[in-house]
Amino acid sequence: MNEAMKVWFLSSEVEPFAKTGGLADVAGSLPRALHGFGVDVRVGLPYYRSIRDQNIFATQIVAGLEVPLGDLVLPCKVQETQTKEGIRVYLFEREDLFDRPHLYGNAEGDYYDNLERFSFFCRGAILFAKRIGFSFDVVHCHDWQTGLVPAYIKSIYRNDPFFSNTASVFTIHNIGYQGLFPGAKLDTCGIPSWEFHPDGIEYWGNISLLKAGLVYSDLITTVSPTYSEEIQTPEFGLGMEGVLKKRAQDLRGILNGADYSVWDPARDPHIVSPYQPETMEGKKKNKFALIEEMGLKPLFKVQPVLGMISRLSSQKGCDLLVEILDELVKLDVGLVILGSGEEKYESMLVDLSQRHRGSMAVRIGFDDPLAHRIVAGADMLLVPSMYEPCGLTQMYALRYGTVPVVRATGGLDDTIVEFDPVENKGNGFKFGPYEAKPFLTAIRRAIDVFKDGEPWQRLMQNGMKEDFSWDRAAREYLELYESVLTRKREGGKRESQSAF
Ligand code: ADP
Ligand code: GLC
Repeated sequence: MNEAMKVWFLSSEVEPFAKTGGLADVAGSLPRALHGFGVDVRVGLPYYRSIRDQNIFATQIVAGLEVPLGDLVLPCKVQETQTKEGIRVYLFEREDLFDRPHLYGNAEGDYYDNLERFSFFCRGAILFAKRIGFSFDVVHCHDWQTGLVPAYIKSIYRNDPFFSNTASVFTIHNIGYQGLFPGAKLDTCGIPSWEFHPDGIEYWGNISLLKAGLVYSDLITTVSPTYSEEIQTPEFGLGMEGVLKKRAQDLRGILNGADYSVWDPARDPHIVSPYQPETMEGKKKNKFALIEEMGLKPLFKVQPVLGMISRLSSQKGCDLLVEILDELVKLDVGLVILGSGEEKYESMLVDLSQRHRGSMAVRIGFDDPLAHRIVAGADMLLVPSMYEPCGLTQMYALRYGTVPVVRATGGLDDTIVEFDPVENKGNGFKFGPYEAKPFLTAIRRAIDVFKDGEPWQRLMQNGMKEDFSWDRAAREYLELYESVLTRKREGGKRESQSAF
């Protein structure tokens, strides 16, 4: 029997350990699915304060891993824990870098030393694998925080035999976060100066850790087929389109999955009444409970309740939402919003909810159980994103019979099909241009179907039948890992033949 493929899976957030958004969901679920296919996948992330506070069972397995950072060599402790499926998770501990209230920054902005923090994590992760003899076949890195890993392997560890048969895969979850730092800080991350040029780690005089991932990895993926096309254009590439066009042959879009062991209305511990397609009474109970919890008027028991769960940023369409809110409330719909993020959106939404008390409720903060209650209790879920690499909440909503109203972009476009009541096809409502009017019109179309009664029931059933489980995506990743390894082996053979 072949030995299991070994994958070193590195992410700055992983559910259930640390989460600010969908990256954590993916980094929690994809390893689980890969493990199910027999892959020896091990996960690495920093040991943040929030993890320490969870009091999980972890054992320190390395006490003084020496990690170079600029002119210094800093010791790193590594703790090992296991998920309930038996996946090994390694936590990189360094109090002065990771023992902080947040993952990336606070209300004033990003932490000033994020370059140090994530250089340390990336370098530590590589050295640790070597130290424990985890000779991984593939290192799978996610977003800018891990972009230095492929860069280290291709530069300072280029001739290290430990890494000579390894391939790196870099996944873009959001091209809007580019890990930009002043060029003068190149020494801090330890990338040699000859890599500082436009085809290397340099981005207009700065260092971009995202670009490092894009340039030095063997293969690039992103989280939906449509987004993989979009990011090769100036509108969505946000300055990285040139790099991506150059690497178009090595770029794939693999749609994320939804983890139905976490998001399933039949066995969701956070909701008041479980339900499934055959027993939809439970959905009503969740709706009534949500109305009560959020202080919405009882009238909304028979009118549509719209939910939104989101980081509050311009990416997520907060401007559009604010623009249509007064009109929306006139349509006699209830609105429940859970989010946190940019201060200006937080305060605008709170002000609006005070103005529309009883029709609109806003909760600022990160509250996972409440997110589940909203997905279960709302009739519709709004996702009006300006851009959306994949988007997970619309997939979760479908499983809960909550109808998504989305903008046709990225993964939202790949997962949501406009409902056609005559043909009984489709699972939600979409609008094209990033403008208030089409958004409002799409909501109106949804409300009309809601009022028709019977077609709405069919629409909910269509959504609940969708299957976006992780197995499909994990299979695609496995094929991709295999193809990149084959390519590497063949490339290696060619190189050694040409040496003679
Ligand atoms: P993104 O990663 O861009 O934020 P996704 O739709 O991929 O968007 O994933 C968002 C994830 O974060 C989902 O699991 C969603 O439920 C969760 N989420 C977002 N905001 C909140 C919040 N304020 N409280 C709880 N969960 C949230
Ligand atoms: C990012 C994207 C989101 C995607 C998530 C997981 O945060 O904004 O669209 O679903 O990553 O890949």
